[in-house]
Amino acid sequence: MSATTFFTTTQFLLFFFSLTTITLGDANIQGEVLNPPAQGTEKVSHIHFYFHDSLDGRYSIRIAAAPPFYKSATPFGLAAVVDSPLTEGPDPGSKLVGRAQGLYVIASKEEVGLLMDLTYQLYEGKYNGSSISVLGRNAVRNPLREMPVVGGTGLFRLARGYVQAKNYLYNLTSGLAIVEYDAFVMHY
Ligand SMILES: *[C@@H]1O[C@H](CO)[C@@H](O)[C@H](O)[C@H]1NC(C)=O
Ligand SMILES: *[C@@H]1O[C@H](CO)[C@@H](O)[C@H](O)[C@H]1NC(C)=O
Repeated sequence: MSATTFFTTTQFLLFFFSLTTITLGDANIQGEVLNPPAQGTEKVSHIHFYFHDSLDGRYSIRIAAAPPFYKSATPFGLAAVVDSPLTEGPDPGSKLVGRAQGLYVIASKEEVGLLMDLTYQLYEGKYNGSSISVLGRNAVRNPLREMPVVGGTGLFRLARGYVQAKNYLYNLTSGLAIVEYDAFVMHY
């Protein structure tokens, strides 16, 4: 065993040691989260739903904007907070299958390009309570956008993957958008 390997193994053991026992004063906190998932059982889930957005407060609301002197063709600098229903079909009244919560900012001066940072929590069956986190660029006028899935919780622990988003309805006047999502998520 080379010195380097030995060192790495020691670090590895220390890592799991620090994971399995966290001592805060007298408390000895241990939990389910401390069991690393079995290796080699990674699977891919395809999740399909519709996301609803409107900046009028129904689904999202503007929380910041660039100062009035700043002019841009896009609302560059706008920030919004989102709590959007995820539905089975495009009709907002169709079955609620989850909620997307988080933030987006318009981070492009040349097109309506959002930086999205949202958690998509699912309500259905065994996925109820599990979530995926999406962080990425969303140029909302492009027919097909892709954003990375950077992690997850519950059944989606250690998730990675991507989502593809397409506008089902996008009305600039009313600010209403219904977006079809296909998420491809690798998880254990
Ligand atoms: C999901 O879990 C919550 C809390 O445990 C429960 O109230 C709700 O009925 C569940 N939803 C579905 C669709 O099973
Ligand atoms: C877009 O929204 C405006 C304002 O609510 C509405 O008058 C118009 O009919 C909508 N356009 C479409 C194509 O739905």
